[in-house]
Amino acid sequence: MLCAPVKQLIETDAVELQEIDRGTHKEIYQNGKLIFVDDDWQTAGKRSIVSYHNYQETPPLEEILQKLQIRHPHSAFYKIATQARSTVDSLRMLEFLQRHPKVIGLCMGELGILTRICAPIFGVPWMYAPLKSEESTAPGQLTVQELKEIYHFDQLNRQTKIFGLIGNPLHQSPGHLYHNRALQGKNGVYVKMPLQASELEPFFTLAKKLPFRGLSVTAPLKEAVIPYLDELDPLAEAIGAVNTVVFKERRVKGYNTDGGAALDAIGDVKGKKMVILGAGGAARAIAFVALQRGADVVIVNRTVTKAQALAEQLQCRFCETVPPYDILVNATSVAIPFEEKVFIDGKVVMEVGLTVTNFQKAAQEAGCQIVEGIEMYTRQAAEQQNLWASVFSEENGY
Ligand code: ATR
Repeated sequence: MLCAPVKQLIETDAVELQEIDRGTHKEIYQNGKLIFVDDDWQTAGKRSIVSYHNYQETPPLEEILQKLQIRHPHSAFYKIATQARSTVDSLRMLEFLQRHPKVIGLCMGELGILTRICAPIFGVPWMYAPLKSEESTAPGQLTVQELKEIYHFDQLNRQTKIFGLIGNPLHQSPGHLYHNRALQGKNGVYVKMPLQASELEPFFTLAKKLPFRGLSVTAPLKEAVIPYLDELDPLAEAIGAVNTVVFKERRVKGYNTDGGAALDAIGDVKGKKMVILGAGGAARAIAFVALQRGADVVIVNRTVTKAQALAEQLQCRFCETVPPYDILVNATSVAIPFEEKVFIDGKVVMEVGLTVTNFQKAAQEAGCQIVEGIEMYTRQAAEQQNLWASVFSEENGY
């Protein structure tokens, strides 16, 4: 079967190569002209590519390369494409590429997307990207347009610093759109990295070896990430939750920009009664800063013992049901079940999540003043950009 042609974005030694899989053999094109035909994919040629594909997993990469080099010592390029079962597999691939700049290495699948985006940072000679998504030849391929317009792929180079989002799930986050726009012209790229708490240790071990300079952290990792950091900003420490990480001067430091962003989005809270739904990382951050700014805070949570523990820690009140309020914040970031009567005409209701939930719609219909999640999102993200502003130079690097 003929795979759709792929368009490579980078030129190697001013040579444009194109690899086309024709089922029985592969053809390599240079600037559109056929330069190499390899029937059994073993002939050592002028500019041959020897490739290894593994659609199941990402085995130890060094061993794969050694075997390819022994079997095909005269090949010009070695290509290794393996299935990413986790973001950690993709970081293993990037760390491997960092030591073998001429290898065309990538991880396939959703969890491998970051290896395709970051390829130019590691000297990968070219990357595979279809012109249209329906022409995709492998799982996880982004189109040429996505690579260029969202990730500024053609501007990435060996000096580019990596930023990203960790947590799970991440599909609703607009982080890649917001942050890549903000990073334009600063030589940074931002990628989404779905991650479980059990993967944090290998993740940080590898991230420290790679040009990572900053992370956004979302649920459920805002508290779990803390043991892997060298240092906490006093506000993050007091809150006990981190949503921003900075890699700087060989230290990994955690910050929290959630609370300040939520309160800035709401406006003046001094002397106002603020009911916060939830007792997780987001609720904790918002409650902490609200108390600092003089609000009268009450925590309400599905698991009442957690509401009680948080209220005791922050020295505020908790309640089993929603009491009268001036400001009601849904800090659970999920579509929680609710009773219509909780909404009071004219009062402020804020949704921390980015999707418009039935909770928000019902509050709006009841005449509440809505503060949308995007208002908090853009403020916390802008503050993350401020925290990352100083990490681009090598002197400040990790
Ligand atoms: P985050 O870091 O974004 O705050 P989290 O730490 O996972 O996320 O916290 C999620 C919060 O949403 C918790 O307060 C959780 O309530 P429990 O403590 O009872 O688990 C709340 N939550 C999640 N699903 C909920 C649901 N269906 N109804 C009500 N609350 C829910």
